[in-house]
Amino acid sequence: MIMTSTTPHQSDHLIFFVNGKKVVERHPDPEVTLLFYLRKVLSLTGTKYGCGTGGCGACTVMISKYNPVTKKIHHYSATACLVPICSLHGSAVTTVEGIGSIKTRIHPVQERLAKCHGTQCGFCSPGMVMSIYTLLRNYPEPSTEQLMEALSGNLCRCTGYRPIVESAKTFCEESAICQLQGTGKCCMDKEEDQFSLDKEEKMCTKLYDESEFRPFDPSQEPIFPPELIRMAEDPQKKTLIFFGERVTWICPANLNDLLELRMKYPKAPLVMGNTTVGPNMKFKGEFHPIIISPSALLELKKVDFTDDGVVIGAGCSLTEVKEILTDRISEEPKENSEIYHALLKQLRTLAGQQIRNMATLGGHVASKHDYSDINPILAAGKAILNLKSKEGERQILLEELFMTTSLKEDFHDGELIYSIVLPQMYRNKNSKIFVTAQRQAQRWENSFAIVNAGMSVQFGMGTNSNNIKDLKMFFGSVGPTTVSASKTCEQLIGRPWNDEMLSEACRLVLDEIRIPPTAVGGMVEYKRTLIISFIFKFYLQVLKELHELDPRMYPEIPETSLSALEEFPIKIPQGVQMFQCVDPHQPPLDPIGHPIMHRSGIKHATGEAVYNDDIPRVDGELYLAVVTSTRAHAKILSIDVSEALKFPGVVDVITAKDVPGENNYSGEIIYAENEVICVGQIVCTVAADTYANAKQAAKKVKIIYEDVEPRIITIEEAIKHNSYLFKEKKIEKGNVDKAFKHVDEVIEGEVHIEGQEHFYMETQTILVFPTGEDKEMVIYTGTQYPAFVQTFIALALGVPQSRIMCHMKRTGGAFGGKVTKPALLGAVAAVAAHKTGHPIRFILERGDDMLITAGRHPLLTKYKVGFMKNGLIKAVDLQYYINAGCTPDESEMVLDFIVLKSENAYDIPNFRSRGRACKTNLPSNTAFRGFGFPQGTLPVENYITAVAFKCGLPPEKVRDMNMYKTVNKTAYKQQFNPEPLLKCWNECLEKSSFQSRKAAIEEFNKKNDWKKKGIAIIPMKFTVGVPMTYGSQAASLVHIYQDGSVLVCHGGCELGQGLHTKLIQVASRELKISSSNVHSVDTNTTTVPNASYTAGSMGTDINGRAVQNACQILLKRLEPIIKKNPKGKWEEWVAQAFMESISLSATGYFKGYQTNMDWEKEEGHPYPYFVYGTTCSEVEIDCLTGAHKLLRTDIFMDAAFSLNPAIDIGQIEGGFIQGMGLYTTEELKYSPEGVLYSRSPEDYKIPTVTEIPEEFNVTFVRSQNPIAIYSSKGLGEAGMFMGSSVFFAITDAVTAARKKRGLMEPFILNSPATPEKIRMACVDQFTEQIPRDDPSTFKPWSILVS
Ligand SMILES: Cc1cc2nc3c(=O)[nH]c(=O)nc-3n(C[C@H](O)[C@H](O)[C@H](O)COP(=O)(O)OP(=O)(O)OC[C@H]3O[C@@H](n4cnc5c(N)ncnc54)[C@H](O)[C@@H]3O)c2cc1C
Ligand code: FES
Ligand code: FES
Repeated sequence: MIMTSTTPHQSDHLIFFVNGKKVVERHPDPEVTLLFYLRKVLSLTGTKYGCGTGGCGACTVMISKYNPVTKKIHHYSATACLVPICSLHGSAVTTVEGIGSIKTRIHPVQERLAKCHGTQCGFCSPGMVMSIYTLLRNYPEPSTEQLMEALSGNLCRCTGYRPIVESAKTFCEESAICQLQGTGKCCMDKEEDQFSLDKEEKMCTKLYDESEFRPFDPSQEPIFPPELIRMAEDPQKKTLIFFGERVTWICPANLNDLLELRMKYPKAPLVMGNTTVGPNMKFKGEFHPIIISPSALLELKKVDFTDDGVVIGAGCSLTEVKEILTDRISEEPKENSEIYHALLKQLRTLAGQQIRNMATLGGHVASKHDYSDINPILAAGKAILNLKSKEGERQILLEELFMTTSLKEDFHDGELIYSIVLPQMYRNKNSKIFVTAQRQAQRWENSFAIVNAGMSVQFGMGTNSNNIKDLKMFFGSVGPTTVSASKTCEQLIGRPWNDEMLSEACRLVLDEIRIPPTAVGGMVEYKRTLIISFIFKFYLQVLKELHELDPRMYPEIPETSLSALEEFPIKIPQGVQMFQCVDPHQPPLDPIGHPIMHRSGIKHATGEAVYNDDIPRVDGELYLAVVTSTRAHAKILSIDVSEALKFPGVVDVITAKDVPGENNYSGEIIYAENEVICVGQIVCTVAADTYANAKQAAKKVKIIYEDVEPRIITIEEAIKHNSYLFKEKKIEKGNVDKAFKHVDEVIEGEVHIEGQEHFYMETQTILVFPTGEDKEMVIYTGTQYPAFVQTFIALALGVPQSRIMCHMKRTGGAFGGKVTKPALLGAVAAVAAHKTGHPIRFILERGDDMLITAGRHPLLTKYKVGFMKNGLIKAVDLQYYINAGCTPDESEMVLDFIVLKSENAYDIPNFRSRGRACKTNLPSNTAFRGFGFPQGTLPVENYITAVAFKCGLPPEKVRDMNMYKTVNKTAYKQQFNPEPLLKCWNECLEKSSFQSRKAAIEEFNKKNDWKKKGIAIIPMKFTVGVPMTYGSQAASLVHIYQDGSVLVCHGGCELGQGLHTKLIQVASRELKISSSNVHSVDTNTTTVPNASYTAGSMGTDINGRAVQNACQILLKRLEPIIKKNPKGKWEEWVAQAFMESISLSATGYFKGYQTNMDWEKEEGHPYPYFVYGTTCSEVEIDCLTGAHKLLRTDIFMDAAFSLNPAIDIGQIEGGFIQGMGLYTTEELKYSPEGVLYSRSPEDYKIPTVTEIPEEFNVTFVRSQNPIAIYSSKGLGEAGMFMGSSVFFAITDAVTAARKKRGLMEPFILNSPATPEKIRMACVDQFTEQIPRDDPSTFKPWSILVS
């Protein structure tokens, strides 16, 4: 009989602590997550929402529990978005607010993250802080491996991780080191001059001063609440029941109660880590009225070590399993614990640290995920499940679970997994057992496997000792659950372990595991290849070990094949950042040129920086949920909102009919009317008292569509239907057609570059407050272009712009994605506010954001290049097509930029570049960092590589030979001096030791068949700004208050790029006062009207000039007073000025750069200046899996004179990593019907901390740029294209792999160079062996849209 402390339907009290304060929830709702509770109930908004799926780490908190048996407190990091509050009974939660704040004292983790420049937009920072903090609570002096592991579940889209790792590394045992591979030199504490080619220039490497860091004293951390210890030790624990509106949550007090409940509610899930049940309820529509939560039961956490193996309680978390196995292997020789080693290998990269902390072994096994990394090994290792029910106990082999797809068939009613036996597999003369774990994912860690495998083999005894006695092969992600290749294994029993057996194994397995060409997830041929490549790896591994055991019986594997077995290690990144030292004569107060921390750095790290959704709720506020089109092109026949309107809490449903003004602004449609033109178009919105109600009600809106032809999804289809936006854009120099007749060789080719999702960590957020008078509305949004939000909303509401006040304080990353989209979304929300009369909170969920707002334009390039045998290129003809999506948005400007910038750094005498924007039925693509340049120039470097290949020359030679060398004109006749380009190129070649490394790589490649290294050096000529003067005008408003403090307002937006910090530096220099006297508030349309967008790398340039102007005006006014009292203080001068009625407020203005472009004449001066750079990257690829490891990157960037090297280096590194993501791991998947599948961090992979270069060096190269403020350069976007050096290093490595197999023809690697593309380009016996399907016979799961 279950003992409960409740009467029917009266909830028990949920008791837990948050930041040392007791929380007693009398009516806990089992559907509420900790993230919601912290943010909306406790108003602890430091913990952020980034995805809601456990995949980004923005919501990381520390959970602490007391174990009454061990008497120990267990701390672990967890993603609050997946933690139901009801699971927290008896726990202590620590959030970023709980460890330190500006109001009290900041924690060393927070301080160092900020001071090492580890925050930009700051949205990921609280999560990063909590991951590092939790690590330190468990290991006050962690190892660097532990640190890398701790950060594995946290994404950052801005910084490129290097400074985050560096800040955390200061706590590590080995923190004193900063050793550049092998040199043993420390990169800090020295000012270098030997690195600069220009001997006049002094270079600095110190971006922060460690001596400022407060020491870390682990004994000072808050204590665990004693009350929770008493609760945990209470022998009279009772089963607790929490009744929610729809769901009842039961926490059994002991195992007996659990078994009884399990019998009583056979359909109720056992929620342990909630990492399967939670996402299924949220995204797959699963609903469970009763949930049993036995996670507190210590019986399920028991661990027994026996001679036969380890018995691990089903309730142990995956992290605990890892610890148990790590302990176990330390006591055993490797050959006796192969299964444990195999499990540990998978546990290192499975999910991120937080998920591994939460997820349990039992929950993992029972989930039977097709992608499970653990189950294939447990099955191959003959793990046994100990099952328990009220009826008794039984054991089954875990592999039996994979005979069926449903758990119902595996378990009897009332049964649960109690523990799992991981047998010890002893290897000796009589029993030779080998186990392997294989895994390949899109990204190294925190990414589901594309295919994984667990395999084991046992050899016989005596005369049969060379023959296979037992063989097990299990594969993941190739069927509905883990798949056993049992027939194959059976047929191989008795065979010797030799090449024939391998061939037979590959043939049989491909026959047995048939992945249909239409399989969900796609990548079918790649998956088939991986299956047999994994078998090959296993074959070699076993052969190697057999040879070691019996060299006479088993042949030695050729040394060149051994590389198939080596794993890429995860290493802590190292590097040096070099920049010009500040002139020692510069006044100490003048902050220009110094690496000053982001103004909000500390606030980011403490969670006190306020983002839109952190603004407290106001009375009557409603939440908005969207209903989006499910068809790419269709007529709307009807919209039935009646059911939605009846839903509790719903106030209204808003459609196109409710737009009082313009519903269509220059082709951008606010609410779909009559027809839909893409999947994801907003058809209507539901306004309700809570987001949960609005969302549930939105599902009840019924829309009837009638499909309309044509439905155009891809560029190819658009070309076929002649479906274009705007006129063709073209520039031409020389006589291209004629030149082609006089060249030695011509190559024609096509390059596809897929799109990119911005994946800013803060999704689009809009708050709209109708003031109630004069149709005024106040808007808070994260935008790069407040004036556009204002314009759009004014038009939508049919009111003058003066009634709309748009505020923008900061946003959690933008990257171009918040230039136009917030205006459209703002109008959607403003119409809702207008109709309901209520304030509106419109926060896009990650999935909606990815679906609705689109991103970088996919690009198809057709090129023709004519060249001489010596590599000199004489003629190029480029035809670009971008997939613009369904409306114009920024596509015309993106197209302009692609065409104008398409020559990159090369002087091609006969050059033609044309571009078309394809109108398709995809969500409308928009601005994205680099504005087309990163796509448009990749094909350029591609054809250079092809020319080099054809001429038998190194690509860098062809690059060098064709590069601009002297003062010259671009194809559109703008004059420029490429001197900094050559400086960057030469310094990069020399300082990266390019030639010697290239030679070493050639040696490496000769010695290794299955791993290849590649290196590439890529130059860049980039332009800043926009081709119309009015687009770069800027204004500011600077006030000096009577106490001498200064407020700087300007039209630029703080997106994380440190704009406010730099402009405060400008004001400080101009007014000759300390920057601590200068403050900056939000950007808004009331203080600075009609401001340009903050984009195109010109934020500091133009707003800096406007601030400078205002400050100079003010200083001029103060001059007479200063002259009269030259020894006076700033405050005295200001006070005197006030007494003399001198205005202490001034507007500043910058008219804009004189730029223009005449497309008729194909010439102009579209950009104010150029930014140059060169990057060298080196990679290693695994030819059998397609994985790559970035070994080293050296960026040489022409920064002219950096106003703030810390911020500029941050932009370059962050841009580089984002570019690397574009070209390698970030892959958007669309259905043939135009539905975007990639809508969460689970299925879209931006780089993590593991992807960044093992050695990452950035050097600033000095040049002159008198046109920009203080001779600086805008560096916001330039780093992005430098990521292509990784792409071309991969190309180089793949070329080596192909050459080895006699493939001497040039090949095209399309972007992104994913593991799939790399593997399939490394053609070998395995790729040739797999079955291929005739593409005309099936409809694939996904298609390319470029
Ligand atoms: C962001 C993210 C990334 C991930 N990445 C990976 C990855 O890379 N590789 C990988 O393999 N997995 C990955 N996973 C999946 C993860 O490993 C599983 O979700 C997890 O192990 C499930 O454990 P849990 O304790 O959270 O299960 P829960 O969600 O609590 O429960 C899952 C199911 O198991 C049942 N159950 C739980 N315990 C028992 C028991 N003792 N007896 C019987 N039934 C039981 C429950 O009834 C329920 O049906 C990821 C998950 C997330 C959220
Ligand atoms: S919001 Fe929780 S992990 Fe992303
Ligand atoms: S600083 Fe990490 S996401 Fe912006």
